[in-house]
Amino acid sequence: MFGKEQKIYKFEKIKRAKRAALAAHPGVELIDFGVGEPDEMAFPGVVQTLQREAEKPENRGYADNGIQEFKDAAARYLQKVYGVTGVDPETEVLHGIGSKPVLAMLPAIFINPGDVSLMTVPNYPIMGTHTRWYGGTVVDMPLYEENDFLPYLDSISADVRKRAKLLYINYPNNPTGAGATTAFFEKVVKFARANNIIVVHDAAYAALTYSARPLSFLSIPGAKDVGVEIHSLSKAFNMTGWRLSFMAGNERVIAGYRNVKDNCDSGQFKAIQKAGVYALDHPEITDEITVKYERRLRAMSGVLTGMGFNAKMPAGTFYLYVKMPKGVKNGRIFVSAEDFSEFLITEKLISTVPWDDAGSYIRFSATFESKGKTDEQRVLDEFKKRMGSLQFEF
Ligand SMILES: Cc1ncc(COP(=O)(O)O)c(C=O)c1O
Repeated sequence: MFGKEQKIYKFEKIKRAKRAALAAHPGVELIDFGVGEPDEMAFPGVVQTLQREAEKPENRGYADNGIQEFKDAAARYLQKVYGVTGVDPETEVLHGIGSKPVLAMLPAIFINPGDVSLMTVPNYPIMGTHTRWYGGTVVDMPLYEENDFLPYLDSISADVRKRAKLLYINYPNNPTGAGATTAFFEKVVKFARANNIIVVHDAAYAALTYSARPLSFLSIPGAKDVGVEIHSLSKAFNMTGWRLSFMAGNERVIAGYRNVKDNCDSGQFKAIQKAGVYALDHPEITDEITVKYERRLRAMSGVLTGMGFNAKMPAGTFYLYVKMPKGVKNGRIFVSAEDFSEFLITEKLISTVPWDDAGSYIRFSATFESKGKTDEQRVLDEFKKRMGSLQFEF
């Protein structure tokens, strides 16, 4: 199976459509709302820490399961930003080379043939993919607007509950931008305890919120008994390429992860972990990043709302998740979000990401490139102009 599949994946299709649109309209600027990573560099203090630490001989070797300073900084960060207390940095925290490999390793610990991972959809699919590779089954929990993009836990059947080992949730959510509530997290803890399921909360965007304070699953009483939370420095600190994350929570799950990780990698470069300590000790970096995304998201939401789209500000993330229109007035009918997204790139050189998993929506990311604030406004004006030449039917 590996390396032999012929299927073309969504993101490869998007890349191809982008190339074709650029070739068909030479010299026209492509407005890229498709990217899922920050458009700016890590902040100077983080970069300077790496520069300094990279020169020290003591940082040169294998980092194995991570340095204690980073774990201590992670526990401090959880307390400062999320008000989470009582996390033991020795036994309840472990670093990762980004959250992607952490999600990839979890099924190795828990999934045997026949076991189930419950995954919200649309989603970041890594834990589900690896669940299948270990012979497990993925059961989707669709996220619908009418339920605020939270899964319907009550409708999961008794058979699935019995076979389920892992439950994946991710809030604020990629791609819907929805946030969780304390009440929802409490329900998850209860559900996990009643059914003996381990909760994996992917908190990749948890610090990027607009209307409420960042919320950690670990702030819920009893959460540590049933689960773990994975934090990433990628989005909150503009550090996608640096590859740094940490998992915190249930001691036994952390111990399992430590064992698998020890047999997969040798840890992130210690100098990067030390730069990570600097970042975690400066959460005001995230506040500054959030101001920019909020400004952009409000402007994008304004343009789309003015055209008839339901484009509400998200609770968090840097994404706007917008239901596709039925079609263009007196013209083309869209059969799927993929179809609509292809129309926007082909006709207007506007790149987005389509999702057809639970309804048909497209995702606009506020991480488009611009050279400063004036240029940002120019991109947004150009977006408005291009969209303004279209009339949609909903
Ligand atoms: C929901 C979600 N989880 C995890 C990741 C991966 O992040 P990292 O850079 O920490 O591997 C992403 C990246 O886009 C994501 O969207």
